[in-house]
Amino acid sequence: MSRAASHTASPESLPRHIAITMDGNGRWAAARGLARSSGHEAGLVPVRLCVEECSERGVEALTLFAFSSENWSRPAEEVASLMGLFLSAIDREVGELDRKGVRLRIIGNRQALSVRLQAQIAAAEQRTAGNPGLKLQLAVSYGGRWDIVQAARTLAGQCASGALRPEQIDEGRFAGALALADLPDADLLIRTGGERRISNFLLWNLAYAELYFSERLWPDFDRAEFTRALEFFAGRERRFGLTGGQLQAPPSAAGPAMKAPRP
Ligand code: IPE
Ligand code: IPE
Ligand code: MG
Repeated sequence: MSRAASHTASPESLPRHIAITMDGNGRWAAARGLARSSGHEAGLVPVRLCVEECSERGVEALTLFAFSSENWSRPAEEVASLMGLFLSAIDREVGELDRKGVRLRIIGNRQALSVRLQAQIAAAEQRTAGNPGLKLQLAVSYGGRWDIVQAARTLAGQCASGALRPEQIDEGRFAGALALADLPDADLLIRTGGERRISNFLLWNLAYAELYFSERLWPDFDRAEFTRALEFFAGRERRFGLTGGQLQAPPSAAGPAMKAPRP
């Protein structure tokens, strides 16, 4: 049975894993005659809000897209201000995250980051590693294609060393080599800023995500809009390739796919 077919549809339920593409900071700043960096700083407010909302509502995992593989090609000054912001934000927020019981992890190509930022990330991850609450992932220097390539490289290395045979590679094993190996697939993708595209975010893990596109620029994202995204999600019929009729049928008639637990 494929991973997709092993889900159980439950339209009213809360998403277990929310992914957010936090877009629109630059436009938010430009509309106020401010530097783009001010927009990125203002974007910290809705980050805190989403962490709080997810923690309070019992969402298992929240993955925030903060800086893509492609964002390295922005003007050097903007890249530098973003890297500075990651440093200061992690430094400032880690205590509060720890108090809230949040487990923080950074996903992405961290070798591209400064040694100082890498060390700070490692310390923050270590400090919060044992926390039982929200699993918070910050995607920095992250690309969905990078993630798939690094997983392929890991598995190829295991094959080359004789630890793994190519025919043992299936969807489950491949997913286990990705950055979000220990998390369920994203159930809901929220993208702010009005664009309707993936922009190289979690290509594998979004396979069956519901997509909520918000016109709000990220610094303007608030609790009411977060609630609207959850309501949108609750209103979807998630079919995972089955027919609507199969979903309405009693479990025995729907076959083994309907009885299997969500991954
Ligand atoms: C998202 O906001 C933050 C990053 C990509 C780092 P943008 O900086 O892309 O803002 P817009 O889309 O230009 O308004
Ligand atoms: C996506 O936003 C990346 C992040 C929010 C971190 P971009 O602004 O980089 O995406 P495009 O360029 O509009 O596709
Ligand atoms: Mg953008």
